[in-house]
Amino acid sequence: MSLDPKIKQLREFKEKAKLGGGEERIASQHAKGKLTARERIEILLDEGSFREIDIYVARHAGEFDLNTYHPTGDGVVTGYGTIEQRLVYVFAQDFTVFGGSLSRAHADKIIKLQDLATKNGAPIIGLNDSGGARIQEGVVSLGAYADIFLRNVLSSGVIPQISCILGPCAGGAVYSPAITDFIIMTKETSHMFVTGPEVVRSVTHEEVSMEDLGGAMTHNQVSGVAHFASESEEHALYTTRQLIGFIPSNNMEDAPGVICRDDPLRTESALDTIIPENPNKPYDIHEVITKIVDEGFFLEVQEHYAKNIVVGFARLNGRSVGIVANQPAVLAGVLDINSSAKAARFVRFCDCFNIPLIILEDVPGFLPGVGQEHGGIIRHGAKLLYAFAEATVPKITVITRKAYGGAYDVMSSKHIRGDVNLAWPTAEIAVMGPEGAANILYRKELAAAENPDELRAELVQRYRDTFANPYVAASWGYLDDVIEPSQTRPRLINALEMLKNKRDENPPKKHGNIPL
Ligand code: HXC
Repeated sequence: MSLDPKIKQLREFKEKAKLGGGEERIASQHAKGKLTARERIEILLDEGSFREIDIYVARHAGEFDLNTYHPTGDGVVTGYGTIEQRLVYVFAQDFTVFGGSLSRAHADKIIKLQDLATKNGAPIIGLNDSGGARIQEGVVSLGAYADIFLRNVLSSGVIPQISCILGPCAGGAVYSPAITDFIIMTKETSHMFVTGPEVVRSVTHEEVSMEDLGGAMTHNQVSGVAHFASESEEHALYTTRQLIGFIPSNNMEDAPGVICRDDPLRTESALDTIIPENPNKPYDIHEVITKIVDEGFFLEVQEHYAKNIVVGFARLNGRSVGIVANQPAVLAGVLDINSSAKAARFVRFCDCFNIPLIILEDVPGFLPGVGQEHGGIIRHGAKLLYAFAEATVPKITVITRKAYGGAYDVMSSKHIRGDVNLAWPTAEIAVMGPEGAANILYRKELAAAENPDELRAELVQRYRDTFANPYVAASWGYLDDVIEPSQTRPRLINALEMLKNKRDENPPKKHGNIPL
């Protein structure tokens, strides 16, 4: 039986639309080591779950505009599907059509998706590969970008928004991702910049390659714009799936729980000896994290940026948690401008989306120096203080070693609504380290001493015995308990269970004024 001509026409239309800018441009996309928009969506979503919408959308031609090229779909594939059976919305820009550039029609497809995602409370994932504003459309394209930005902002904190950067993203194409929660870039094949190397050369006379100006490692290591650097597009899409697994679909839900295959009562005797005898010796906080969390699995966010603080997602007894941990192995775990901003943004994400926070603290204080002061460490450090104080999700802090000065207050101390505050017996909690304290408190005595080194050693030891321990803070109730390090996992899981129904809120206001 022959096919109904109308159905034949429909099928042909769809097949043609799926070719985007045509076979030649698809071959050129593949030759650059890049996948097409539809191939990317296939990898991202559960098999067979994608439902495309707006495949017929095209730029509307004027009556006498018949010869102009108006490909259906207009450079972006939009629709919805599932990741591990959970609904997500996805748009994928098609570089084979006008370089994935953004026209009015292209933007309207994204906007329809943004509105659907927000109304239906599900994450939106953008697979970006775009030359920015469609030059031929002029101001209409600029307006279309702004329409997208507005929706990015209004749905911020309502639904998770994730951006994969899988090709060049120039001009307006970077600002929508910048407002979203996470940016994942592929190494070598993706770039982000407001203006490219040629414009940079003509304006500032600087010679810079695409890679150095806006490649994946530049934005993961130097600028902090991106959160993940992927080895390939498949890796970027896999990371997106992992990320979605840790976070709820919207701000009214909890993150999905998973069946825990790790013993919640598991103790780790190695933690009892992980802190070196010498308080100035480093250890790697990753070791502590992986020993505590379910099956040692930790999805680190911004692992290449401001490595003196470690942030990321893990699970405890099957529940998602956000981990914020000072890293003694890098700059002694000090808080500086970049680490404060990095952690503050992560804390705020977790608070938006009801993900409890686990804080592992070993921090000698804020980084001193002219560069830091002139760069605004006061303003940036205040971001982290603000973020922790404002957060109403369960907050559990474990002080493993140093908690000195303002950093003690900042790292989710009891005073800024830490719910459960624990310490290991190795904790040192004081206004400053013993050496600094002895030098300031006993300056005159040390200057007059016959043997100042001997006196200093004695004073340092006396200060350490008196203050550099957890028991003074515990005597004030600033710590709820001092625990054996090996018991950390069961104690955290127990505390999370105790806080399961936590309710807390901030005073009604339009919004706070975080020191940006
Ligand atoms: C229309 C575009 C385009 C654009 C690329 N193309 N960018 N068409 N508008 N913005 C088309 C090209 O003409 C070409 O068409 C095809 O896409 C592929 O582009 P190539 O240049 O051949 O590819 P490649 O060498 O990989 O270079 C990619 C690129 C480069 C780095 C993105 O095309 C580029 O620099 N484009 C312009 C970037 C830009 O300045 N955009 C405007 C930013 S201003 P054919 O037919 O030959 O295949 C902006 C304002 C918004 O976005 C601000 C809001 C805050």
